[in-house]
Amino acid sequence: MRRARATLLPLLLSLGSLVAAPSNSTEQRDYDQARWDPIHFPPAIQQAEDAQCLECHQEVLERRVRPETLTGIKTEETLAWYQTLDTYQGEQETLHRRHLVTDYANQVMDLKCNTCHQGNDPRDETANSHADGSGQLTQRKHVDPNICLMCHGQFPAQIMGVPGEWREFGHLFNESCLTCHIAFRTNRHQVNYLKPEAIEQLGAQTNDVCFGCHGGRAWYRISFPYPRHSWPGMAEDVPDWAKERPTTSEARFLTGTVNRAEQAQ
Ligand code: HEC
Ligand code: HEC
Ligand code: HEC
Ligand code: HEC
Ligand code: HEC
Repeated sequence: MRRARATLLPLLLSLGSLVAAPSNSTEQRDYDQARWDPIHFPPAIQQAEDAQCLECHQEVLERRVRPETLTGIKTEETLAWYQTLDTYQGEQETLHRRHLVTDYANQVMDLKCNTCHQGNDPRDETANSHADGSGQLTQRKHVDPNICLMCHGQFPAQIMGVPGEWREFGHLFNESCLTCHIAFRTNRHQVNYLKPEAIEQLGAQTNDVCFGCHGGRAWYRISFPYPRHSWPGMAEDVPDWAKERPTTSEARFLTGTVNRAEQAQ
């Protein structure tokens, strides 16, 4: 017995290293191993650091847009309607660079790969794919559009007592959201993908900062049903539109944040 173990051990060890590649190294991995790396799926993706994703996906931050479209329009000569806010600067950028590495993005946000990419169950990529299939699944590459909606929804003027479109009626309020938001819903942005102090500072200087994420570049016809955090001076009656609202941000956005507004109360 003793002899058999002595000869088997090195063999087992070498087999082990073939099967289980060290999880933090990209060496010696084939395409399928990398593609199906558990880091793409829950629960591992929830804990993943950007650096781990970037070990394989550096290209998402490096790739640049073409200098010219296939029909010959130069990028430097194009400006979309959502690129006309005062906060927009620099050359045309890709979606990833615009949210993760440009100056303005870094000033007001701290988005992580897994803020948007939440993974799914690889055994069933598509929601409702069979009679008792889950309705919650998102295709692996797909990002839940509710995440985009948080910063790209409409300006909900009706609930604010603003007569209509901010671009049309902002002048009634000195073009500044802070005319009212110095007092209303002051407990805001305490989430791990935003920089709350910087947002308030910049928002006081440049009006488009607040409007930008709350109507100024809206891809949707609806606005996000934000959680309604209590604030000092809040009335006790909850308005009808707010009855179903949560009163705290989604749990996954709270890890690593300190609620400074609440601490200050
Ligand atoms: C070990 C290398 C590796 C790591 C680490 C890794 N990926 Fe991937 N990922 C791949 C490969 C390989 C593919 C397949 C690419 C393809 O087919 O174009 C892929 C595909 C993807 C896709 C597209 C999926 C599809 O079906 O088209 C997304 C999105 C993605 N990864 C996000 C992430 C995120 C977010 C992280 C970190 C949580 C991450 N990846 C970590 C190697 C890796
Ligand atoms: C603002 C949200 C957001 C963030 C933050 C984000 N992504 Fe993405 N990513 C997307 C969207 C949207 C797509 C396109 C999804 C689709 O086609 O369904 C995408 C696509 C991808 C793809 C597929 C290939 C490609 O370029 O289209 C990879 C790989 C990827 N992301 C990796 C990453 C990594 C790594 C990070 C962190 C460094 C990251 N993403 C951060 C939203 C985001
Ligand atoms: C935390 C807030 C936030 C989230 C979440 C977010 N965005 Fe953005 N997005 C921004 C900001 C801020 C800008 C403008 C940055 C600037 O002007 O430099 C922007 C710009 C854009 C642009 C214009 C890019 C350009 O260069 O003109 C597109 C397109 C876009 N976002 C799509 C998306 C999509 C799709 C999602 C969801 C996958 C998403 N965003 C999620 C904040 C966000
Ligand atoms: C006339 C005062 C006033 C002005 C000006 C104003 N708001 Fe509001 N805002 C309110 C009130 C009042 C509420 C609702 C308070 C409550 O929850 O009872 C509100 C709510 C909000 C909400 C939460 C919406 C939701 O569905 O929970 C956001 C986001 C917001 N305002 C952003 C802005 C931005 C950005 C601007 C400037 C572009 C702005 N507001 C200008 C008074 C104002
Ligand atoms: C980079 C995008 C971004 C900018 C800039 C921004 N917001 Fe927000 N805002 C958000 C997101 C995302 C939430 C939801 C956060 C959460 O889930 O708690 C939010 C939530 C709010 C809320 C709801 C507060 C509550 O009860 O939780 C108000 C009010 C608000 N923002 C007003 C403003 C004002 C005023 C400014 C300018 C000083 C501003 N926002 C700038 C993205 C932004």
